[in-house]
Amino acid sequence: MSKLQFKNKWVLVTGASSGLGEEMARQLAFQHGANLILLARRKDKLKQLKAELEKEAKVSVKIIVADLSKLDDVDGAIDQLLADGQLYGAILNAGVTYFGKHSELSWEQFQTMLQTNVVSVVQFTSSLVSHFEATGKEGGILIVSSLAGILPVPYQSVYSGTKSFILSFATALAHEIKNKQFSLSVYAPGGIVTEMTAGENFHDLQGWLMPVKQAAKEGINAFRSRKLVHIPGVMNRVGNFFLKFLPKRLIMGKMGKVYEKSMVKAEQRNSKP
Ligand SMILES: NC(=O)c1ccc[n+]([C@@H]2O[C@H](COP(=O)([O-])OP(=O)(O)OC[C@H]3O[C@@H](n4cnc5c(N)ncnc54)[C@H](OP(=O)(O)O)[C@@H]3O)[C@@H](O)[C@H]2O)c1
Repeated sequence: MSKLQFKNKWVLVTGASSGLGEEMARQLAFQHGANLILLARRKDKLKQLKAELEKEAKVSVKIIVADLSKLDDVDGAIDQLLADGQLYGAILNAGVTYFGKHSELSWEQFQTMLQTNVVSVVQFTSSLVSHFEATGKEGGILIVSSLAGILPVPYQSVYSGTKSFILSFATALAHEIKNKQFSLSVYAPGGIVTEMTAGENFHDLQGWLMPVKQAAKEGINAFRSRKLVHIPGVMNRVGNFFLKFLPKRLIMGKMGKVYEKSMVKAEQRNSKP
């Protein structure tokens, strides 16, 4: 299968208003000449990015303002995407986390996380795969999961579950696809410097995070090369390999302690007058 070529092709990026999605959109425009469909809830941020990319990178950009925790918004976005038959690629990147004690996660927060990280991803993927199977056109989807989907993280238990779901779903579905011009890939980064990790609880974990430019570059390369699953960063890949030989209970216990310490320190900072 030849590599994906994004030049002058339309590529959707969900969660393009900040972090990894915003940076992937920038690199797709500046380095690959892709036309972009940027999706998120914050219209002002999307409009700003659209103006920048059209002016500086000379590509065409459309925006879709949608809340992916709402089924109707996702259906509406899918209708727009498939209306002209021009879609070439999709990066399903939008996601939310919760870092804290599971007992303090509200039912509403849980449902929002499930809808955004899982249900919308399944909705998009199912419709786009059907479209590419029916048309036989060239293209691909990159689903942004997380290392937490491979090795679950204490204090992000629902988030880890959502990321495991989409990893399993996509890697299994990839083997059902008959269109040889189309690929379904999964990207599983460890921590990245973005809005998601800017919260107080992540303060003491900053040293573990990857710069967003590097995470975006590796993600796009994996997408272009149609990798089934890609973990960015040599240390993450080596770590993930050796973790298979160690008891998960031990590793997760250690991680739980580190995360707990970071949360306790955040609490202490917040309670200082
Ligand atoms: N940062 C990390 O350490 C890390 C590690 C591994 C994987 N990831 C994954 O990478 C992806 C991007 O995260 P990030 O780190 O770049 O976080 P981020 O900076 O917080 O960006 C999240 C993006 O998702 C969008 N989004 C959130 N809820 C949405 C909703 N209901 N409807 C539409 N868009 C929504 C946000 O846009 P609006 O707020 O404008 O809607 C934003 O553009 C996520 O799937 C995350 O799980 C992140």
